[in-house]
Amino acid sequence: MKDFWYELKHVCKQSGARYGILHTPHGDVETPMFMPVGTLATVKGIAPEMLKEMGSQVILSNTYHLWLRPGEDIVAKAGGLHKFMNYDGPMLTDSGGFQVFSLGKTRKIKEEGVYFKSIIDGKSLFLSPEKAIDIQNKLGADMIMSLDECAPYPATYDYMKHSVERTIRWAKRGKEAHHNEKQALFGIVQGGEYPDLREKCAKALVEMDFPGYSIGGTSVGEPKDVMYKMVEDAIQWLPEDKPRYLMGVGNPIDLIEAAIRGIDMYDCVLPTRVARHGALMTHHGRMNINNEKFKEDFTPIDSECDCYTCRNYTRAYLRHLHKSDELFGKTLLSIHNVRFLLQLSEDIRKAIQEDRLLDFKEEFLDKYGRDVY
Ligand code: GUN
Ligand code: ZN
Repeated sequence: MKDFWYELKHVCKQSGARYGILHTPHGDVETPMFMPVGTLATVKGIAPEMLKEMGSQVILSNTYHLWLRPGEDIVAKAGGLHKFMNYDGPMLTDSGGFQVFSLGKTRKIKEEGVYFKSIIDGKSLFLSPEKAIDIQNKLGADMIMSLDECAPYPATYDYMKHSVERTIRWAKRGKEAHHNEKQALFGIVQGGEYPDLREKCAKALVEMDFPGYSIGGTSVGEPKDVMYKMVEDAIQWLPEDKPRYLMGVGNPIDLIEAAIRGIDMYDCVLPTRVARHGALMTHHGRMNINNEKFKEDFTPIDSECDCYTCRNYTRAYLRHLHKSDELFGKTLLSIHNVRFLLQLSEDIRKAIQEDRLLDFKEEFLDKYGRDVY
């Protein structure tokens, strides 16, 4: 696939982390990179133009949500996701696997696919590996995902073994159903906390030769050290010339730890979700704008942040907007949090190129704190 390829530019001599360029039909992006989440074809509260200005490179969206509303045919009629939301940069869609599996009791997993009820109107629905590809073909993102099972944590070895074997079969079926040259289909490595299952899954997917690989089934309630181990157990089997995407990870410390282990991409709803509740990420740890002590504080959220919000607005004003439940407040706080992770990605890339990512990690943690999430 010549429209899409990963170019490894530099390996950090201190940490082994990778700096690279991902070439996509909608432009080149630098990795490691954080991808803001626009579940419903919008990063809540932030215009695409602003995202670009903030240094955002790839926007992620969701098959499951867009399938239910407005429906992939409407997006296709609009000319695809890019045209529909007026964004001409690279995009990625998740397969719906994660969302469907988080529905709990109402869903049934069978060999052919997943049966579940719509969260919108209770209608019975069926998602198969082929259907997940068909929807994503219509949405038209540059990178798309195989349907997988994101198994719960903890899961027994026996459960995970069957689940992984099915995820491998589903990846194969999805790959056979995918015929659009302009979209790079990623395989997703599952296997929970079991190294031999991660190995089995990774090797089977690599055998199928995907243009990129995701690591899933993390950030599902497992302790940090278990998650880092899951990444190590999977990544060692993945080829160097393909991008590696750690799904659903977006806490600042994890971005650094994942990069150290060779991850190139990550995404998370965390920055926008917590911003809407007034929670902010700063170079000195988390803060909540609701705090009484910001009432007459006319300084920016984070003096080291270069975002639009920090360049123009004070904590006192932002606290006021938030307390008054003003829409603009949610936008300003979301801008800050997203920019914080984009800026952190830039700092990580710079540190990799300078062969000092481990030093950077210590400097960052000295200020940010070691136990903050
Ligand atoms: N998002 C976060 N984790 C996962 C996962 O395991 N699978 C998929 N498809 N999406 C995810
Ligand atoms: Zn800021």
